[in-house]
Amino acid sequence: MLRIEGLRSGYGPLEVLHGLNLTIEEGSFVAILGANGAGKSTLMRTLVGLVVPRGGHITFGDRIIDHVSPERRLRAGLALVPEGRELFRSLSVRENLLMGAFTRPGGRSMEEDLARILDYFPRLKQRLTAAAASLSGGEGQMLAIGRAMMAHPRVLLLDEPSHGLAPTIVDTVFAVISQLHQRDGLTVVVAEQNAKKALSVAQHAYVLQGGTIALSGTAAELSQTAAVRELYLGG
Ligand SMILES: Nc1ncnc2c1ncn2[C@@H]1O[C@H](COP(=O)(O)OP(=O)(O)O)[C@@H](O)[C@H]1O
Ligand SMILES: [Mg+2]
Repeated sequence: MLRIEGLRSGYGPLEVLHGLNLTIEEGSFVAILGANGAGKSTLMRTLVGLVVPRGGHITFGDRIIDHVSPERRLRAGLALVPEGRELFRSLSVRENLLMGAFTRPGGRSMEEDLARILDYFPRLKQRLTAAAASLSGGEGQMLAIGRAMMAHPRVLLLDEPSHGLAPTIVDTVFAVISQLHQRDGLTVVVAEQNAKKALSVAQHAYVLQGGTIALSGTAAELSQTAAVRELYLGG
């Protein structure tokens, strides 16, 4: 579904990703693990077109999309839930969700889409008219995910969805992501520092270290790997 070959990316003189190769199969749930500064966000932003790569290729379906605009990538089915959520804080929950729908395919009822997505997020349903700024961290993360889902993505990329959330809330957020993956047949890519949580739900994982892929394998394999256990799972 998504093939990344020799991808090099960065900012100005700084190269962050030094030739990444990875493959995301259709319908899979993939984790991108790595410490702070490893390049996870740079990878996610490069995949959706917010950072322009300086080498290599990204193929989505049968199209090379390296130089396709972020809006066209979103229309094609690649949606990002950004690090830090980036909600429209002064807008209501409902308005934030509708903002996610600007590229959605025509011919569907907006209200039906809203209802379908709100079924996954009962808390948001109760708070539709509240300002996004008034939400708790967990609710805000749910809203960021719901907003991305309004675009009808085929691939949902999530950048550190656990960030700043209490462990029980992290569990709730990941349970919803798993449901979206299973029920909607969505392909999911999660960038996470929380390796333990990510490996407990993902099928496949890549470990990013200093802008290269240090390790990859099934989530079960990586959970058993000494280096991963030591560095990311607390021994
Ligand atoms: N907008 C930016 N401009 C310049 N350098 C950046 C920018 N964003 C990130 N970096 C640098 O790129 C490297 C990788 O960052 P990032 O992709 O955010 O890593 P991660 O998400 O894994 O924490 C870091 O050295 C960081 O300082
Ligand atoms: Mg990051």
